[in-house]
Amino acid sequence: MTETGTTQSTPLLASTAGELREATSALLEDVGGRGRRASLGLVPTMGGLHAGHAALADTARRADDVVVASIFVNPLQFGDRADLERYPRTLDADLRLLGESGVDVVFAPALEEMYPGGEPLVRVNAGAMGEVLEGAARPGHFDGMLTVVAKLLNLARPATADYRAYFGQKDAQQLALIRRMVLDLNIPADIEGVPIVRDTDGLALSSRNRFLSAADRTAALVLPRVLHELRERSLDGLPLDLAAGRSRIDAVDGVELDYLDVVDPLSFDAVGHGAGGTAPALAVVAARVGAVRLIDNIALSGPA
Ligand code: PAF
Repeated sequence: MTETGTTQSTPLLASTAGELREATSALLEDVGGRGRRASLGLVPTMGGLHAGHAALADTARRADDVVVASIFVNPLQFGDRADLERYPRTLDADLRLLGESGVDVVFAPALEEMYPGGEPLVRVNAGAMGEVLEGAARPGHFDGMLTVVAKLLNLARPATADYRAYFGQKDAQQLALIRRMVLDLNIPADIEGVPIVRDTDGLALSSRNRFLSAADRTAALVLPRVLHELRERSLDGLPLDLAAGRSRIDAVDGVELDYLDVVDPLSFDAVGHGAGGTAPALAVVAARVGAVRLIDNIALSGPA
């Protein structure tokens, strides 16, 4: 659908499941009254929002009648307490950004609302795909992430309207796991991946970029550069030299490479990286730059 529903500059703020249901039902009823099936778009976030999140909200705003964004810093997906504590909490700025994107409702629950009685006993298990790459570096991260995404998908699910949820392609393994979860658990939501938003220097936007010093930031640019070179070679039908890419990253002062690999974007299985392959393949990279872990990726065929 092209017509946008209820664009407003100040989103309604819901902090409980009941308030969320009440707000979305009223808005959806209004659309239903116009004689067609309505749709709801959910944009799950942890706050600390930037233009990458605005792109998620804008995409939802263009597609859906009612747009809900959630802001919840999910402790289950942080292995490291210090990392959880320093995750940016910027609610006022986040509400402004979401208002500018025309988000209707912001669901910002307290910890007790999401996990009454403490951490949940029953969780989603990400399986083997959750143990490689980011999963290997951050044990338990994907189980915690999928658990909260399953809860958010259930909490915001409309009774009768079409339902979509939007996630950034920068977190490609997260996106692949969420797609797999809704398939395996029959969760009735369409999952939409939204392209990476990059700064003018090429660095992928991330809530963690604010912790990079000026020198770190310059050093970090080796990551998108190596990814772009791999894509160019792949598009030109040349063989990929991952070892050379790894050495280039390792040679930059202040950058500690974790992985540079080529994977299937759906299964995250490693794929061959011969010349000019046409099967979908994603080059993925992770590195510690200063005190910050950065990830990035690029498609080796089709649109970047
Ligand atoms: O990508 C994020 O911000 C988080 O992992 C998500 C999907 C909101 C779950 O907490």
